[in-house]
Amino acid sequence: MTWAPTAARSASHRLPSTSPWRRSAPGTILDVVEEAGISVLSSCQEGTCGTCETPVLEGDVDHRDSLLTPAEQATNDTMFICVSRAACPRLVLEL
Ligand code: FES
Repeated sequence: MTWAPTAARSASHRLPSTSPWRRSAPGTILDVVEEAGISVLSSCQEGTCGTCETPVLEGDVDHRDSLLTPAEQATNDTMFICVSRAACPRLVLEL
């Protein structure tokens, strides 16, 4: 499973498609983002508070949160990166 954040609408992080942004080991996207030194708000880390909500620009998500309705999940417009994961080879997030 690999994923790569991309440019945001305002201040953004365009990250290279090389390590550490390619991830095949277990771990959350929040873990990877924090390991890369990008500050993302988070609190519960259980997919219940909504703090880490992150827009999805491209890709499919394996939603594991307790917040989005099935209809919201189906749009793949947003995700909670503390628990949800990529369900495709490349997931592009607005960070
Ligand atoms: S930190 Fe609470 S939903 Fe992700």
